[in-house]
Amino acid sequence: MNLTWLFSWRSKKQQNETKDAGPERRPQAPRKPAAKPIQAPPAANAQRPFEVQLNIGRYRMEPFTEGGICIVMKGIPLEQGKPKLAVKMVREQWLNHQAVRRQFTTESQIVRELHHPQLPKYRSRGLIDGKAYYAYEFIEGFQLINLSQEQQRFPPALVKELAKDIVAQLLEQLHYLHTSLKPVVHGDISSENILIDTKQKIYLVDFGCSHFQKQANKEAYQWLAKPSFISPEQARGEKWDHRSDLYQAGILLYELLKNRRWNEGSTKRDKVLFAASNQRQKDDFLLDATDAKTSAFVARMLDPDPNKRFQSAKEALSALKS
Ligand SMILES: Nc1ncnc2c1ncn2[C@@H]1O[C@H](COP(=O)(O)OP(=O)(O)O)[C@@H](O)[C@H]1O
Ligand SMILES: [Mg+2]
Repeated sequence: MNLTWLFSWRSKKQQNETKDAGPERRPQAPRKPAAKPIQAPPAANAQRPFEVQLNIGRYRMEPFTEGGICIVMKGIPLEQGKPKLAVKMVREQWLNHQAVRRQFTTESQIVRELHHPQLPKYRSRGLIDGKAYYAYEFIEGFQLINLSQEQQRFPPALVKELAKDIVAQLLEQLHYLHTSLKPVVHGDISSENILIDTKQKIYLVDFGCSHFQKQANKEAYQWLAKPSFISPEQARGEKWDHRSDLYQAGILLYELLKNRRWNEGSTKRDKVLFAASNQRQKDDFLLDATDAKTSAFVARMLDPDPNKRFQSAKEALSALKS
């Protein structure tokens, strides 16, 4: 199946939204768009597109998205029309926080180590206007959250059909991360941090919560993870490891199969409480959405006790494929 039609629909939708901006005309927009248009740039020269000489050439920077801590810009080589780089910087208001700056350095070190066909490739890091940036390959895709939550537009049956394949791809990427030369725990897997392209290939991005498993000065950055996707051990402020990534992959599969949120909390506090107090699901809890085997698989991925989950992405992957 080719997903080109999703892209053509999205660009038509964006044109229509610009034309009819009335709130009543937009009831089907995603509940909470993750990537807002940029509002507060980190540097004076990031307010609008600007040109910059990086150590890999001269690029035109265009504002792209803005998260809580960072902004992401598109880097377009001057001689080409297409973005080639995603350039990430810490937002101005967080630059004085030592923990944020340290985590940003770790993030760029982790991205440097990625050598996998479905993980964006590192390109460069340094300073723009005196502020640290790193640049990695720009992925032409859209956030998975748009597939799982624009319910009226994307038939649940189609999303369900793709769900297991999407999570199998994710588990392959996690296997790579967890077992590479310098093993990495992602920590913030969510439908906002996974991009899908027209060929149904998925790409995990956003290493803003990640750490090297053997990092000496390992701190728990669970406060950076999406509250809707937080694992019980992250919510409880306990030590968390690669099995937390498996829990988050379990949430993703649940949401794709059910077409609804796993975490029912409405505020950040409620979501953390929901995650912390989560009970073990019965093996047949998803029978209304899938077959018995897949339901038991998701229940095990979502086990609140990390010791009772699959212990590795590889183990989970072979269970999913069997
Ligand atoms: N390499 C990339 N290619 C294309 N889009 C990207 C890339 N990296 C990030 N993005 C987009 O930018 C959004 C924000 O980037 P992210 O790294 O998740 O920042 P934050 O830490 O603020 O959440 C992502 O959810 C994704 O939509
Ligand atoms: Mg993100």
